[in-house]
Amino acid sequence: MFRALLTSRLQAAFTAAGIDLPEGFTPGVVIASDTRFGDYQSNAAMILAKQLKTNPRALAEQIKAALKVEDLCEKITVDGPGFLNLTLSAAALAQRLSVIVKDDHVGVPQVEKAKTIVVDFSAPNIAKPMHVGHIRSTFIGDSLARVARFIGHKVITDNHVGDWGTQFGMIIHGWKTQLDQSKLKADPIHELVSVYKAVNAAAKADEAVLEICKGELVKLQQGDAENLGIWKECVRLTLEQLEKVYGALDIKFDHYLGESFYNDALAPLVAEMLNQGIATISEGATVVFSDGSVKPENDPFLIRDKDEWKPAPCIIRKGDGGYLYATTDLATIDYRVKEWQADEIWYVVGAPQQLHFRQVFSAAQRRGITTKMIHIAFGSILGPDGKMFKTRSGETVGLLEVIDEAIERARAAADEKEQGLSDAEKDEIARIIGGGSVKYAELSQNRLTDYKFSWDKMLSLQGNTAPYLINAYVRTRAIFRKLDGAVALTDDLAITEPAERALAMKLAQFAENAHDILDDHRPNLLANYLYELADTYHSFYEACHVLRSEGTARNTRLTLCEATGRVLKTGLGLLGIQTTERM
Ligand code: ARG
Repeated sequence: MFRALLTSRLQAAFTAAGIDLPEGFTPGVVIASDTRFGDYQSNAAMILAKQLKTNPRALAEQIKAALKVEDLCEKITVDGPGFLNLTLSAAALAQRLSVIVKDDHVGVPQVEKAKTIVVDFSAPNIAKPMHVGHIRSTFIGDSLARVARFIGHKVITDNHVGDWGTQFGMIIHGWKTQLDQSKLKADPIHELVSVYKAVNAAAKADEAVLEICKGELVKLQQGDAENLGIWKECVRLTLEQLEKVYGALDIKFDHYLGESFYNDALAPLVAEMLNQGIATISEGATVVFSDGSVKPENDPFLIRDKDEWKPAPCIIRKGDGGYLYATTDLATIDYRVKEWQADEIWYVVGAPQQLHFRQVFSAAQRRGITTKMIHIAFGSILGPDGKMFKTRSGETVGLLEVIDEAIERARAAADEKEQGLSDAEKDEIARIIGGGSVKYAELSQNRLTDYKFSWDKMLSLQGNTAPYLINAYVRTRAIFRKLDGAVALTDDLAITEPAERALAMKLAQFAENAHDILDDHRPNLLANYLYELADTYHSFYEACHVLRSEGTARNTRLTLCEATGRVLKTGLGLLGIQTTERM
C-alpha cells in the first residue's frame, strides 16, 4: 500500500524533475531494512547516477525536491552515497490503522488484473501409501490458493488424485483374495495400502501371482464389470476418508478430477500429437523428442552423458499401448485451459518431479498452449535424527498419521492446563492447535529446503510456532473480553509512542506482504511476517498500558490491539490456520 503509493510518487518526481528514464529502468521504493533512517527507502538515484555518470547525492537531492509526499511522510532525507529515506507521518499511519480495523481485507488491496489460477495440490494415490510429499503439497497448495483468492484472483483448486494405474491389478487381486472387511470399514486407506503391500510382496516372490495381477489389470482396463466395481469402491472409500481428513484440516477442493477422469481423452490426444508432428513413434512407443528450439542446457528432452547431449524423450504411449503419467497430465492441461480458461496452472509437487513437469510444459507449449504453468517444488521432511521421516513403527509417515498424532498431543497439552473448559471445547482447541502446528511447521520453512520434523518444537508456546501466534491472537481478544464489549472504537487516533508507531507500521506492511508471497510462491514470507508482528505486539504491550490509559491514547491502543488481532487472524487464515478465542 505505502510502498505502491510511494513508488508512484517517486516515479512522478522523476518526471517532474525533468529526468528522462533510460529504457528498462523503473525507480522503486522498498521497505527499509534499517529503520533508523526511515520506513521506506529508494536506491533509484544511485542506480541512475551510475548510468548517467553523474553525482548520486546531487541527483537524489534533485528528486527529493520534486517529490510530493506531504500527505504521507514527515521526513525525507538523502543519506550515505545517495539513498532516499522516507519516514511516514504519524497521521498517515493513524489513517491506515483506521482502515485496517474496518476493511474486510484488513487494508490489503486487490490485484488490478484478476487471473484464473488452477492450483493442483495434495493429489495422493489411491491404495498407495501417502507420503510426506503429499503433506507438504497439501499445506503449501492450500495456503497459496487462499492467498491468491484473498488478493482477488479467481482460484480453482483441483485434487488430481492418482486413481488409475498399475497398482489396481494388485489391489483387485488382493480385494478378491485377502481383504478384511471389518478393517476396510474402520480404516479403508490403511487396509487398501496393506493389501497392496502384501500382494506386491507376494508378486515379487511368485511369478504366478504377478501374472494374475496383470490379468486383473487388463480386465479392468477392458471394462470388466466386477473389476470396475471394485476399483470404483476403492476410490469411493478412499476419497470419503480423505475428505474427513481434509475437513479436519479445513481444506476444500473445488474439484476432484483424478487421473481416471482423463482416460477417454488419452488416445485422441496421442493421435493428435502424432498428427501435429510433435510426437513420433520410436521403438514401438510414442514419444516426444527435442525440437532443438532451446539451448541443450535448457532442453528437457536432452540429457548430458559425459561430453554429449543424448535424447531423453518423454514417452506418451508405451509399446504395449499403455498410457503414462505424462499423457494424463497433457490431457489435464487441455481440459483446464478449455473448460476453465486458466491463465495460470500451479503444480505444488515435490522437487523429484521437476523433469516430468519441464517435459510436460514444453510439450504443451509446442501444442500451442500459452497458459503459464508453474511447478512449485519443495524438498523433503526429515525426522528429528536428520534422516527420512518415519513413524515409530518404521513406516514412512502419511498425512493421516501426522494429523492424528498432532491432535492427540495438543489434546494432552490442553488437558494438562486446567482452565474450566469443557471436553468439547478442549477437542476443538486440540484440533485447531494440533492441525495448525503441523501446518505452521511446514509453512514457516523455505519450501525448497528439507526441514526437520520435531513435535516438541512445533507444539511449543515459545518461538516461531502456531501456538505462539495463536496465543498472541488470544491475548488481543482477552483485552476486549475484560471490557465485556463495552467499547466503541473511534477514529480519534494519535500515534505518539515509538512502540505504537512500530506496531502501526508493521500492521500497515501486511498490505505489501500479502502480495509479495506470490512473487515466488512462498508462504514462509507470510509466516515470518506474522511472527514479527506478534513480537512487535508483545513489545508494544509491555511498553504501553492499554486499559489504564485514557482518552485518545486508550482509543489508539485499543485500536492497535484490534488491528493486530484482525491481521493475525487473517494472516493465519491464509496459512490455513484457524484461531480460537481462548487456549
Ligand atoms: N499423484 C502424484 C504423486 O503422488 C502427484 C500428482 C501431481 N499433479 C499432477 N498434475 N501431476 O506423485
